[in-house]
Amino acid sequence: MSTHQQRHPQTLTAFARDTLQGLSGIPKKLSSKYFYDEQGDKLFQQIMRMPEYYLTDCELEIFENRKEAILQAIGRRHFQLLELGAGDGMKTKVLLRHFLERGVNFQYQPIDISRNVLLELEESLRSELPDLQVKSLQGDYFKVLHELRGNKAQPKVVLFLGANIGNYTLEEALAFLRSIATELNPGDLLLIGFDLKKDPETILSAYNDPAGITAAFNLNLLHRMNRELGANFDLQGFKHWETYNPLTGEAKSYIVSLKGQYVFIRALNRSFYFDAWEAIDVELSRKYSIPELEHLAEQAGFAVRQHFFDKNNYFVDSLWMVK
Ligand code: AVI
Repeated sequence: MSTHQQRHPQTLTAFARDTLQGLSGIPKKLSSKYFYDEQGDKLFQQIMRMPEYYLTDCELEIFENRKEAILQAIGRRHFQLLELGAGDGMKTKVLLRHFLERGVNFQYQPIDISRNVLLELEESLRSELPDLQVKSLQGDYFKVLHELRGNKAQPKVVLFLGANIGNYTLEEALAFLRSIATELNPGDLLLIGFDLKKDPETILSAYNDPAGITAAFNLNLLHRMNRELGANFDLQGFKHWETYNPLTGEAKSYIVSLKGQYVFIRALNRSFYFDAWEAIDVELSRKYSIPELEHLAEQAGFAVRQHFFDKNNYFVDSLWMVK
């Protein structure tokens, strides 16, 4: 292949292909799923410890205060507990420990795209909860869910925590939830975390911290393109910008070009022009009201069983049953 030709899209990695498509569009758009390389995982850990990022603390508080109520609402003593996008399992461990203490017969199956995340999680579970039966599954949620299809005999409880659903558009969220419902049996359960609409100031601060950790997290995407795709983004030439629309509940992150500039991406053998003040759409973190999420549950084929709130009603973990 000549180095002067753009590589054929089929020979590109998914990251390169999505970058090509995203930077060729109007407006330019990149997926926040690419935030999470090794550096991005570390920055996200820091975000979860920030005082402004209330989401993690709220969900932890819900699990600590309502773990028995959650178990009662699950209403079973024997099930498979699957977690989509398990991460470090920090919050989940509160539930796992409680279920073990209460003598529940369950196997924990964390599912994550990152093998590294799963290995670290397994290791920490082995030392902290040696009696727990763990079987981790590496892969894309949809692929793994499909593989679980054959395993319909066991009652399942699926965890989708941390407001991860908020990173999908409404249409994507609906399609995602419908496919979960399809892969499960009637009566199976989903415990899902939603960040709720609240004072716009509180929401904006969570994504616009003064220490600049969220900015570093978003701009890491440019670093990642430099590292993995041989791009030459000058990080000084871009800034993070956050908005929150209280009507739609959409917190949106952009990377804005501070000047007119070309960026060359070696893996694509192509330059991209960024106008002065041109924005790249990089992340959606959607906030819901209770009627909105109940409508979503209904449309996706679930019946809402119970909501579990933190003391400020900032966040909800909602237990849904497949109809
Ligand atoms: C992973 N996800 C739920 C986070 C969120 O709140 O949308 C990612 C994040 N982005 C910026 N801060 C945190």
